[in-house]
Amino acid sequence: MRASYVRLYSAALVLLSTLIEGLYLDPDNFTSLQEATALISDGILDYYAGTTKGGTIGTFVWPYYWWEAGGVWGGMIDYTILMKNDTYTSLIKEAMTYQTGDDNNYIPLNQSTTEGNDDQGFWGLAAMGAAERNFSNPSDPSKAWLTLAQAVFNTMSARWDESSCGGGLRWQIFQWNSGYDYKNSVSNGCLFNIGARLARFTSNDSYIEWCERVWDWMYGAGFMTEGTWWLVYDGAEIDGNCTNMTKYVWSYNQGLMMSGAAYLYNYTEDPKWLERTENLLVGAKVFFDDDVMYERTCQGSNNCNQDQRSFKAYLSRFMGQTAVMAPSTYDVVMNYLTTSALAAARSCSGGSDGHTCGLDWTNTTGWDGTWGLGEQLCALEVITQLRVGDVDPPYTADNGGSSLGNPAAGYGTVVSDATPLTLGTKDKAGAGIITAVIGVSIVASTVWLVL
Ligand SMILES: *[C@@H]1O[C@H](CO)[C@@H](O)[C@H](O)[C@H]1NC(C)=O
Ligand SMILES: *[C@@H]1O[C@H](CO)[C@@H](O)[C@H](O)[C@H]1NC(C)=O
Ligand SMILES: *[C@@H]1O[C@H](CO)[C@@H](O)[C@H](O)[C@H]1NC(C)=O
Ligand SMILES: *[C@@H]1O[C@H](CO)[C@@H](O)[C@H](O)[C@H]1NC(C)=O
Ligand SMILES: *[C@@H]1O[C@H](CO)[C@@H](O)[C@H](O)[C@H]1NC(C)=O
Ligand SMILES: *[C@@H]1O[C@H](CO)[C@@H](O)[C@H](O)[C@H]1NC(C)=O
Ligand SMILES: *[C@@H]1O[C@H](CO)[C@@H](O)[C@H](O)[C@H]1NC(C)=O
Ligand SMILES: *[C@@H]1O[C@H](CO)[C@@H](O)[C@H](O)[C@H]1NC(C)=O
Ligand SMILES: *[C@@H]1O[C@H](CO)[C@@H](O)[C@H](O)[C@H]1NC(C)=O
Repeated sequence: MRASYVRLYSAALVLLSTLIEGLYLDPDNFTSLQEATALISDGILDYYAGTTKGGTIGTFVWPYYWWEAGGVWGGMIDYTILMKNDTYTSLIKEAMTYQTGDDNNYIPLNQSTTEGNDDQGFWGLAAMGAAERNFSNPSDPSKAWLTLAQAVFNTMSARWDESSCGGGLRWQIFQWNSGYDYKNSVSNGCLFNIGARLARFTSNDSYIEWCERVWDWMYGAGFMTEGTWWLVYDGAEIDGNCTNMTKYVWSYNQGLMMSGAAYLYNYTEDPKWLERTENLLVGAKVFFDDDVMYERTCQGSNNCNQDQRSFKAYLSRFMGQTAVMAPSTYDVVMNYLTTSALAAARSCSGGSDGHTCGLDWTNTTGWDGTWGLGEQLCALEVITQLRVGDVDPPYTADNGGSSLGNPAAGYGTVVSDATPLTLGTKDKAGAGIITAVIGVSIVASTVWLVL
C-alpha cells in the first residue's frame, strides 16, 4: 500500500514538474524541436474551421479574422519545410487555394467588409513564402504560388495613392471601411517586403523601383525614424497630411521592413540595404526583454487583442529570413530566437492538454494562463525558425523554385484602385459596425508605450 502510494506521489511530482517546465526543447536536438512543434501545430488546428461542419476552408473560428489565417498558413509552410513534417501539406494547400477569390488575388468578395491592404498582404506573404520554399504546387497554374504573390503585389501597388501625404498605401482597400483615411506601416511594409522578395525570386528590377519608392516615402513622411533606435511607427491619418503620427510600435512592422531590406541587400549587394537591415535589427531590441521577445506596446499592459497576440510569430519569421539573407546578422538573430524559443516552450505548459502555449514568455513560472491561435502561432514560429540555417535558403526561379509566375497576375474586376463594390445599405451598416468595433479595440489595447 505504502510503496504504491509513494510511487503515485512521485509520478504526480514528475507530472507537475513537466507541467511547469513546459515542452521539452533542446535547440541542438532536432527531434526535440520536431516533437515540440508537432504538438504546437496540432494546437493551431484546434482552431481551424475548415474541417468542421459549417466551417469555411482556409479560415479559423471566431474571433480570428481572415487576415490571421494568412499569417498562420505562412507559418505552417515554414514549419512543414523546416521541421520536415508534411502531415499538413495538403491541408495548407487546400486552404491557400480556396481563399484566393474570383480573381486569384486574395480579395475574396465576402471579405470586403473588413479586408484591408495589410490583410491581403499577409496572404501574399504566405504565397511568396510557399514559392521560396518550393512548397507543393497547386495544379491550377492561375493559383501558382508565385503568380498569387505577383497578383497581390500588382493589385496593392496599383492602389498607391499620391492624393495625400505624398504617396503611400491607405490602410483599407474599400472606401466604406473605416481606416480608409489612415495610411499605415503594415500595409506599406507588406508591399515593400513582397516586392523585395519578388525582385530576388524573379530577378526583375522593376520590383526594386517599387521598394525604393515605398522605403523613401515611409522614411520621408516619418513612418520610420532613425537614430540610436530605428523604429517603425503604426501610421497616420490623411487629415493633416500624415503629420500626426501614431507612434505605436509593433513587432511585425519592424520585421517586415528588416526582412525586406535584407532580401534587397542579398539581391542587389548594395551596402545601403545592409546598413538599413542592421539598424532595424538594433531597433528590434525594444521587442526583447532579456533577449525574450515580447509585444511591447500591448503586452506590458496586458492588453493585446487577438490580432496583436500573433505578431511575435511574424517577427520570428522575418528575423529568420534576415539571418539568412544578411548572414552578418545571423549570430545576433539566432541568439534572440534561441532564448525566445526556450522561453516560449516553457510557456507551453497550460490548458487541458498540458501543452497549450501562453502569451507572456518573460514569465519564468511558465504558462501565464492565456491561450489562443496567436499564442500557438508565436510559439510555433519562434521554434521553427531555429532551423532556418539548416535548410536551403529561400529558392529563386534560378535555383530550385519551381512555382510558375505571371507578371501581370491579379487584374480582374476588383482591383486597381479603391473603386467601391455595389453594396446594399444593410451591408454598409454591417461593415461600419465591424470596423468601429475593431477601431475601438485597437485604441483600447494600445495604451502603453515607453519611448
Ligand atoms: C532528443 O530529443 C528526443 C525527444 O525529446 C529525446 O527522446 C532524445 O533522447 C534526445 N536526444 C538526445 C541526444 O538528447
Ligand atoms: C508530424 O506531425 C504529426 C502531426 O502533428 C505528428 O503526429 C508526428 O509525430 C510528426 N512527426 C514528427 C517526425 O515529428
Ligand atoms: C465566402 O465565399 C465562399 C465561396 O466563394 C464560401 O465558400 C465561404 O463559405 C464564404 N465564407 C464566408 C466566411 O462567408
Ligand atoms: C517585371 O515586373 C514588372 C512589374 O510587375 C512587370 O510589369 C514586367 O512585365 C516584368 N518584366 C518581366 C520581364 O517579367
Ligand atoms: C504632405 O506630405 C508629403 C510627405 O511628407 C510632403 O512631401 C508634401 O509636401 C506634404 N504636402 C503638403 C501640402 O504639406
Ligand atoms: C492626433 O491624433 C490623435 C489621435 O491619434 C488625436 O487625438 C489628436 O487630436 C490629433 N491631433 C491633431 C493635431 O490632429
Ligand atoms: C545571400 O544569401 C545566401 C544564403 O544565405 C548567402 O550565401 C549569401 O552570402 C548572401 N549574399 C550576401 C550578399 O550576403
Ligand atoms: C506569471 O503567470 C502567472 C499565471 O497567470 C501569474 O500568476 C503571475 O503573476 C505571472 N508572473 C509575472 C511576473 O507576470
Ligand atoms: C521543387 O519542386 C519541383 C516540383 O515538385 C521539383 O521537381 C524540384 O526538384 C524541387 N526543387 C528543389 C530544389 O527541391
